[in-house]
Amino acid sequence: MLRYSKTIGCFFKNPLKKAIFVRLQKTQKIIQNMSDIAKLQIGNDTYEFPLIKGTEDEVAIDVKTLRGASKGVITIDPGYKNTGACTSGITFLDGEKGILRYRGYAIEDLAEKADFLEVAYALIFGDLPTKEQLKKFHDDIKENAIVDEEVKKILDAFPKNAHPMGVLSSLTSALTAFNPSSVNVESEEEMYNAIVKIMGKFPVLVAWAMRKKKGLPLNYGSMKLDYVENVLQMMFEKPHEEFSINPIVKDALDKLLILHADHEQNCSTSTVRIVGSSHAGLFASISAGISALWGPLHGGANQAVLEMLEAIKEDGGDTKKYMAKAKDKNDPFRLMGFGHRVYKNFDPRAKIIKVAADQVLGDLGVEDPILEIAKGLEQEALKDPYFVDRKLYPNVDFYSGIIYRAMGIPVEMFTVMFALGRLPGWIAQWREMRLNKEPIGRPRQIYTGENLRAFKTISKR
Ligand code: ACO
Repeated sequence: MLRYSKTIGCFFKNPLKKAIFVRLQKTQKIIQNMSDIAKLQIGNDTYEFPLIKGTEDEVAIDVKTLRGASKGVITIDPGYKNTGACTSGITFLDGEKGILRYRGYAIEDLAEKADFLEVAYALIFGDLPTKEQLKKFHDDIKENAIVDEEVKKILDAFPKNAHPMGVLSSLTSALTAFNPSSVNVESEEEMYNAIVKIMGKFPVLVAWAMRKKKGLPLNYGSMKLDYVENVLQMMFEKPHEEFSINPIVKDALDKLLILHADHEQNCSTSTVRIVGSSHAGLFASISAGISALWGPLHGGANQAVLEMLEAIKEDGGDTKKYMAKAKDKNDPFRLMGFGHRVYKNFDPRAKIIKVAADQVLGDLGVEDPILEIAKGLEQEALKDPYFVDRKLYPNVDFYSGIIYRAMGIPVEMFTVMFALGRLPGWIAQWREMRLNKEPIGRPRQIYTGENLRAFKTISKR
């Protein structure tokens, strides 16, 4: 384990701490780089605000002083479509150009050349690991890849048909009860220990959530396997069979997890940051993130896409009918797996996943008619003015479910697999928020309810 020292010299002796130091310096550089000002006129008063520029030249108006200076005026922006909640050195994405980078590395390179644990390390600690750093990280995770046997009793109390996302969120939260001491974020050692703990225990909970559904005995992984191999063994191993890892499935899962590993300030990540900003612990913050991810407008879309494609198949495969439904404003149906809050161009992850879906299904010899339905829908949408005008393209979830299904993963587990991939991103964002000493997240509001009125006792109402 790391030894903690408060002296600044230790940052340089220790590679983990060096990464943090470099990242903090960069954040400070961004904040100091204010060259211009924005002016806001309210009535006869003019207020000036500095502009903040990021390393990729993104610009924000820093309105921190607005409410105080203007005696109460605030900004309002439902859904935070124009609001930045923080500066961050983790992930860069340009939705207009379809660019996604983790710690400066192109997603295409990472998906092609890295494995999931290397990417996790880079996200959390700031750069890709050396061989030694990766080995230590992996060894420490493996040491922690065990959960208290009593967690099984909690799992036992869930009905078999419970959705595994609910199970995962509850069990992750329950980990707090078995690891009660809160993390002192001033101590890099404590922070690191909490990180390897959750990285180790989370795949066990993921596998158990699926095994419970399938009625399989609860198991543990093996110290001999790599991170992703362990996930597969824990999920699919049967008590009466020797388990062997299919390299095609392993590579596909590595890629899917990398593509899902972070996506800057999305709904679940913002949830993790905001829950963590109250100084709730890492497990509690991650558990909240899982709940946020579950919704069909976010991570739950991968399950919804597959269910939609199945329904279209059952209905005779008439894609045009469903395109018309998606465009009909009186019909609540939406083309799941299409559209994105920030991508107004192809989601770069969807491009990689589409190619992977063809490859994986081909290599595994799986013929899935819903792949053809998906491609048909995509082709129609890409030339339909409704989708073109609104810049609605396939997102990361459009093809991922087809690969998961070919791998033998049940539909209800798709969003759980997303959570497994997103875990390092959530950790990295939580850690950054705590190291940057961000204030508690607490938005304001404009009240639109009743003015003061007289209270009537119940007999007079
Ligand atoms: N099907 C049909 N119409 C759509 C779709 C869709 N999938 N997505 C957006 N639109 C339309 C809206 O009706 C709206 O039309 P209007 O301007 O005529 O009113 C316009 O496009 C803009 O849509 P908004 O909902 O305002 O866009 P927003 O940025 O708020 O939502 C979201 C983005 C939630 C992803 C949306 O596109 C959607 O619901 N997609 C389907 C669900 C999905 O795939 N979610 C996964 C996202 S990726 C992720 O979280 C991992």
